[in-house]
Amino acid sequence: MSLSTEITVGTDVVVRQLRWEADGVVSLQLATPGGELLPPWEPGSHIDVVLPNGVERQYSLCGPPGERAYYRIGVRRERASRGGSEYVHAFLRPGQRLTIKGPRNNFGFRPAESYVFVAAGIGITPILPMIREAESQHADWQLYFGGHTSASMPFLDELRSYGPRVRCHPADTVGRIPLPELEKPAQSGAKVYACGPASLLSDLDTAAENWPDGTLHLERFKVREIPPAENKPVEVVCAASKKTVSVPADKSIIRALEDAGIRPPTSCRSGICGSCETRVLEGIPEHRDGILSASEQKAGDRMFVCVSRARTPRLVLDL
Ligand code: FES
Repeated sequence: MSLSTEITVGTDVVVRQLRWEADGVVSLQLATPGGELLPPWEPGSHIDVVLPNGVERQYSLCGPPGERAYYRIGVRRERASRGGSEYVHAFLRPGQRLTIKGPRNNFGFRPAESYVFVAAGIGITPILPMIREAESQHADWQLYFGGHTSASMPFLDELRSYGPRVRCHPADTVGRIPLPELEKPAQSGAKVYACGPASLLSDLDTAAENWPDGTLHLERFKVREIPPAENKPVEVVCAASKKTVSVPADKSIIRALEDAGIRPPTSCRSGICGSCETRVLEGIPEHRDGILSASEQKAGDRMFVCVSRARTPRLVLDL
């Protein structure tokens, strides 16, 4: 995957439609107030939504691939909402204005002869445009879609039109997604794209240990849990700005850069949105984001400076 697409900062949009999709899930259609086309996007892209209460959240685009007259996103009301999903469900209504940033794509969809999609709950959102794309490529594909109950699984009506390619696994009646079934297609060259809760993605990570490199592609909505690691000080050389920044153990790289007047774009500041992606020119990053796959981490040519640190005492970054 190449570096993320350029960020378009601050597009004003209006809520064109708000629709109930499942228990606790609504979809929104966002369009420009004047009807201008929105920036182009590809399956796997997400946008940052800046809500009227100032909260900024990332949501996958889940409308038809490339649709630019409007963007569609899906929002699950989180029990422990910190002001994002709660605001959308309780207060956001058609006609209201918002600001969006992006789109950006950390979950690029690559051509293959066959695909296995795995999604649970609201994790279906980035997968929906991928399915449409796979259909238009006449590729062979299968979706395993899980949820607590079928009432909690959004966009089921849309998915039913694909017939037996879609296997629904509401946990209360059908049971969990049978991950061992993925072994055969994964070993036969299928690409696996998955999005859902951390437990599902970590089970997939484990299942994929013996799969060919580059088979599994994950999109995380939440920060990946990683074992606590000791922070070491690092010297960050910013090649483009010709500045060297000393990052102490108790400060993040992004904060030290900002204190030195270098401001890479940021949004989530927790390693999930991809805004702060930075090219690594020298040194070995210690990845703490939830975006890069194991093989992308190994490549070491880019990092997310909001959370990641360094395995070497010095990093040279393209900043
Ligand atoms: S700001 Fe979101 S990944 Fe760094």
